[in-house]
Amino acid sequence: MSSTSAPTPLIGVIVCSSRQPRVCPQIAALVTSTIENWTSTSSDSPPRAKLQLIDLAVWNLPMFDEPTIPSQIKNYCDYAQPHTRAWSQEIQKYAGFIFILPQYNWGYPAVIKNAIDYLFNEWRAKPAMIVSYGGHGGTKSAGQLRQVLDGVNMNVAETMPALAFPDRTVLVKAAKGDDLNLGEESRIWTEERKDIYKAFEDLMALVSKTL
Ligand SMILES: Cc1cc2nc3c(=O)[nH]c(=O)nc-3n(C[C@H](O)[C@H](O)[C@H](O)COP(=O)(O)O)c2cc1C
Repeated sequence: MSSTSAPTPLIGVIVCSSRQPRVCPQIAALVTSTIENWTSTSSDSPPRAKLQLIDLAVWNLPMFDEPTIPSQIKNYCDYAQPHTRAWSQEIQKYAGFIFILPQYNWGYPAVIKNAIDYLFNEWRAKPAMIVSYGGHGGTKSAGQLRQVLDGVNMNVAETMPALAFPDRTVLVKAAKGDDLNLGEESRIWTEERKDIYKAFEDLMALVSKTL
């Protein structure tokens, strides 16, 4: 018998650091497992989504090199560069995005601004949530990215979880890209994991309005 239920929305989890070594993939794994393993106490039907990683280090886009302003492009075939056409097709696939965002010098890494600037209509009206991390949680980085996402007309979830490295030992480990032991058994960021799920609920409420 065929099912009439709506398809599960596909959400892109964007790894916004490209340096080697780095901890961003570990933070992305923590966010993904928090969402996937959350046991809702407040809802019988918690939001469902398929989460898929988009690693900017793997995409390795060159510095923006399109001749036309992306907001003027209505069809991805009209981009001049093959890497832009591929990036456009990738971003078109998703109903919404989770940005996993470090803070660099009180701002966000250049690699994510470059990746955003390549496109416009692919981002427009799509819901997003931002999870930042850093010595103090990366809130300056998150605030700046939020402004940019507003600029490409995305709908950003109000809840913006900020993961502060608990002490200098973890900060030094993160800088070296060491294993931060963020697995299921870890007690780190217990409260912040609630924020992650709240932000995800915000995100999925925005996604449901677009389907
Ligand atoms: C270029 C650079 C600048 C940084 N600036 C900040 C900063 O402004 N605030 C902060 O809390 N941490 C800062 N850090 C430390 C990062 O939070 C930490 O290295 C983290 O591991 C970066 O994420 P990544 O490993 O995924 O790249 C900076 C790190 C780098 C590489």
